Amino acid sequence: MKRLCLMVLCFLYWLHHQAVKASVTYDQKAIIVNGQRKILFSGSIHYPRSTPEMWPGLIQKAKEGGLDVIQTYVFWSGHEPSPGNYYFGDRYDLVRFIKVVQQAGLYVHLRIGPYVCAEWNLGGFPVWLKFVPGISFRTDNEPFKAAMQKFTEKIVYMMKAEKLFQTQGGPIILSQIENEYGPIEWEIGAPGKAYTSWAAKMAVGLNTGVPWIMCKHETAPDSVIDTCNGYYCENFYPNKNYKPKMWTENWTGWCSFFGTGVNVRSAEDTAFSVVKFIQKGGSFVNYYMYHGGTNFERTSGGPFITTSYDYDAPLDEFGLYNEPKFGHLRDLHKVIKQCEPALLNGVVEVISLGNNLEAHVFRAGNGACAAFIANYDTKSAVKVSFWNMQFDLPRWSISILPDCKTATYNTAWIAQSTPKKWTSVWSVFEWHSYIEYPPWATEQDAITGNGLWEQVGMTKDTTDYLWYMTDITIDQNEGFVKSGKWPVLNVNSAGHALQVFINGQHAGTAYGGETNPRLKLSQAVNLKPGINKITLLSASVGLPHVGVHYETWNVGVLGPVTLDGVNEGTRDLSHWKWHYKVGLKGEGLSLFTEHGTEAVEWVQGNSLAKKTALTWYKTYFKTPDGNDPLALDMISMGKGQVWINGRSIGRHWPGYKAGGKCGDCDYAGYYVDTKCKTNCGQPTQRWYHVPRSWLKPGGWNYFVVFEEWGGDPTGINLVKRHW
Ligand code: GAL
Repeated sequence: MKRLCLMVLCFLYWLHHQAVKASVTYDQKAIIVNGQRKILFSGSIHYPRSTPEMWPGLIQKAKEGGLDVIQTYVFWSGHEPSPGNYYFGDRYDLVRFIKVVQQAGLYVHLRIGPYVCAEWNLGGFPVWLKFVPGISFRTDNEPFKAAMQKFTEKIVYMMKAEKLFQTQGGPIILSQIENEYGPIEWEIGAPGKAYTSWAAKMAVGLNTGVPWIMCKHETAPDSVIDTCNGYYCENFYPNKNYKPKMWTENWTGWCSFFGTGVNVRSAEDTAFSVVKFIQKGGSFVNYYMYHGGTNFERTSGGPFITTSYDYDAPLDEFGLYNEPKFGHLRDLHKVIKQCEPALLNGVVEVISLGNNLEAHVFRAGNGACAAFIANYDTKSAVKVSFWNMQFDLPRWSISILPDCKTATYNTAWIAQSTPKKWTSVWSVFEWHSYIEYPPWATEQDAITGNGLWEQVGMTKDTTDYLWYMTDITIDQNEGFVKSGKWPVLNVNSAGHALQVFINGQHAGTAYGGETNPRLKLSQAVNLKPGINKITLLSASVGLPHVGVHYETWNVGVLGPVTLDGVNEGTRDLSHWKWHYKVGLKGEGLSLFTEHGTEAVEWVQGNSLAKKTALTWYKTYFKTPDGNDPLALDMISMGKGQVWINGRSIGRHWPGYKAGGKCGDCDYAGYYVDTKCKTNCGQPTQRWYHVPRSWLKPGGWNYFVVFEEWGGDPTGINLVKRHW
């Protein structure tokens, strides 16, 4: 009997131990991993925005920065390029990425979405999804739900098969379904509510063993946790008092749009927001982004999202420390961890120390004590006395006393850092050029129809480019023929950029911008008696990634297209016969690859084309020694795309200068609603990341630029970051 009892006891002990060993739960205070409440610092690093070769270094730096968790979305468009054809290689090797995190001893928060927003083309959905019959995105729609469930299951089963959930001994402690659905549900009502409860049930039913999250989604059904996204989240509370207060996106800066300033956020304000959140009971903070990286190829959303996704994150686009932000947050994490016992197991006392001055004191039964002393005034520093001690508090700052006595950290104490510089490593390229002339209706692959057609319906987003072609016969008796006063062509487009050619000659350029992707071109054009060819090149610059039914937003020349100044006044060409051609000739010939290079005649030396629209450039350069990150300084170019060794670096557009207002933000302090911008009057993006691993070690690299507007390639410079 005694022996039996002992065996039962042993068994119970083992059971308990197992449960504690591999469990992720939560209570009102925190996420509980293996039976322990935790304050978790997390950072977003999106695997396709860097290369697998960069991942270990980035994750190590994140660990050094004091992170416990790496958060990533899952990028459906990269994983299922066509229905049922899955891809998990190279930058899309999700399992490898998660294992790199695991090897570093960090946890993972996997935001499956599969809607991700993220400034990713079409919000992360593959473009083919838009063309599934009867589909409507992110609502109570059967074709959509079926596709979403299939992909979510695919990812969950894959994670399970690789034993990556924490309950299986893996690093994933949290998942996410959907993304910021709250505002959409609010707007669309009943079908939104039905979709929410379906999505939560579907996700929870997958039995991952770890909690699910729905960010910015107040109606998240149990057991899913609703969380906050924003610059400040201290006043956010989850929808049930038994859920922890979590911050899934603390924006460390913001994304950039071609044509507007580059958004930045001070290290001081970022740290201040974190401490404010924690002193009001928050226990999970994720930095969005911790490493932003690069929108390679045509992955950037938009329209107009830049190729760089630097985000002013603690690790810059190239994986280097963005100081002082990186170090300041690292120090913050260290000191908060010292306070963890008091914060998670204690009770809080809030003490007013005067106008805009406050102390939060946390005391636990075991004697642990931590205090935060805050000055919320945005203008003035103060000397404050607390428990007969004196503290100097800069404006808009909080001091942390991990032992309730000594202030070892203040959110506004910042170490100065020197700005980073680029140095040239290769500037004398031997360029060759090839000019691509506008196509004509009689060409192979040209399609003819009546009226103006939507662009993505034609291209299926396999390319940025769609040609619109028509011809117009000008009578000898047209008044303008005699007067010489050219008629005006008006082209209205839903976006995003446009070039006009008349009889093969470049005649005008127009483009939209962040606040309005639409564009209108009005241009006097030289039409001659007889037949004239009008050729329009419409370019998309990233498909929308956010908004109610953003999948229905149009791209391309939808009209009206009119000609003013003819005998009858205005001639409307919108409903004429138009011919269409998808993509560039050079794309079709794969001029960006070495095997495609022979397809056309290139010229060089004195014949090199400069300042000419639709020009392809090619050259070779030798891989520079060392490991410093590399970039292309594209300052002398207009707009187009860049490839190295056949791989797409992304869209370049230094010709689009940042408009708007810069500098009306207070860097050291208060983060105003109008985001802090830099770079006004300069190209929004001048430098383009060239991943080291895409180059041939010690060898020569095939480098191609397609220039849409006209530029001077001799001004292109390969540079490295000098730190
Ligand atoms: C959030 C969204 C993220 C990202 C961010 C802006 O609202 O959840 O995916 O788009 O905005 O960078």
